Amino acid sequence: MGATGLPEEGVGSLAALSELVRAAVDDSTRSAGPRFFHFVMGGGTPAALAADWLASALDQNAYNWVSSPFAARLEQISVAWLKDLFGLPAAWTGVITTGATMANFAGLAAARRWWGLEQGVDVEAEGLSGLPPMKILTSGYVHVSALKAVAMLGLGRQRVRTLSRDGAGRIDLDALASELEERNSEPVVIIANAGDVNTGDFDPIAEMVALARKHRAWVHVDGAFGLFAAVSPTTRHLVAGLELADSVGVDGHKWLNVPYDSGYAFVREPKFLAGAFGVSASYLGTEALARPVFGNLGPEMSRRARSLALWATLRAYGRAGYRAMVERHLALAQRVADQVDAAPDLERLADVSLNVVCFRYRPSGIPEDQLDDLNRTLGELVLEDGRVYFGTTVFAGKVAFRPAIVNWRTREEDADLIVATVRELGARAVAQVEASRARGAMPASAKSEPVEPSESAEVAKPQR
Ligand SMILES: Cc1ncc(COP(=O)(O)O)c(C=O)c1O
Repeated sequence: MGATGLPEEGVGSLAALSELVRAAVDDSTRSAGPRFFHFVMGGGTPAALAADWLASALDQNAYNWVSSPFAARLEQISVAWLKDLFGLPAAWTGVITTGATMANFAGLAAARRWWGLEQGVDVEAEGLSGLPPMKILTSGYVHVSALKAVAMLGLGRQRVRTLSRDGAGRIDLDALASELEERNSEPVVIIANAGDVNTGDFDPIAEMVALARKHRAWVHVDGAFGLFAAVSPTTRHLVAGLELADSVGVDGHKWLNVPYDSGYAFVREPKFLAGAFGVSASYLGTEALARPVFGNLGPEMSRRARSLALWATLRAYGRAGYRAMVERHLALAQRVADQVDAAPDLERLADVSLNVVCFRYRPSGIPEDQLDDLNRTLGELVLEDGRVYFGTTVFAGKVAFRPAIVNWRTREEDADLIVATVRELGARAVAQVEASRARGAMPASAKSEPVEPSESAEVAKPQR
């Protein structure tokens, strides 16, 4: 990318853009493509992508109805559509955020306001000092971004208690019940996780809400990608009880397939979100509720008009389009799970209830205590190879793969490469691990091994 220092004289728009495009072709991961299964990323639908360009071209500031009535109206419409899509009550309030981390932040900020008021303190006005630490209870499925949100809210991520009943992180409902019983006099915040990143498994939201309702507890649901279970009748049961929670966070740039950055926070009682983020008490008038000032319902004031991409994709494909996409991904995940089960050298580590397949390479003859090294090495080879792209995780103490199927373009031939690639590269990983053991060293990084360029036109990573 040329010079390292700030150029004294510019090269002009066209020259700069040509340089940028050349560098992008060489260096960017193909994360918008159908073979990128790392993290839980998603791509951008054509309608969302074009609308996102328009948002940049128009450069609207989606603070309020004066700065951009266009963006505000689209946010109002599309937030209502999302509530419908996810089966959330129409009376809830909602706001577009930059992603699920900030959606969790917004939902938990509303929870913090509620928690303060329960103790007679307006936290936004008076701060947290003098209040006891907030009790926050969750399962082992809690995502680091929820902990980050807790930290940003000044609540202390170490205050979060994970009540797991097993190594996978499933919630211990008895422990949750007794924690709530013990804290009967205190307001408590519960984080329910709709979609564990390793397995796609869900906390039992309905049961957690039922316990919360017997006590003074707020339930926030992190549904970054798992909320899309609500879109299909085949998986809707996984989020049963969602509509009874107090706040929900979800991502747009994951399974909705809108470009970065887009997420959504929903809160049952508008006053808690408005109270947490409003810059003026006069906001709470009836007129404001009819025409919400979205810049006063979330952390940002000047805001990109993310509502354009959101509106366009929902308008273009509708409920049926999203249902078809989600169901195609569910079927693809089952297909990959079947391939894993049929392969003698692969081991599936978890049920596939949604779109994530958790498995590891386990060829015969390799002792258990060498499998983590082997899978880590294989993970590096998969990333280096680039035909498909997904990394490793640690699930129930084992290094494993967890490809997630979320891209609207992914088809069978793309998903089939997951198992094929892992098995093909497996032998090389075994050889590497054995060679490094013979040298008495840790396994060499896969990066030192030359990799043959892929023949395929669709790759997940640039080939050099
Ligand atoms: C369950 C869950 N919650 C929250 C997040 C954070 O989302 P974002 O990176 O969009 O802020 C993620 C991202 O992977 C996630 O999987």
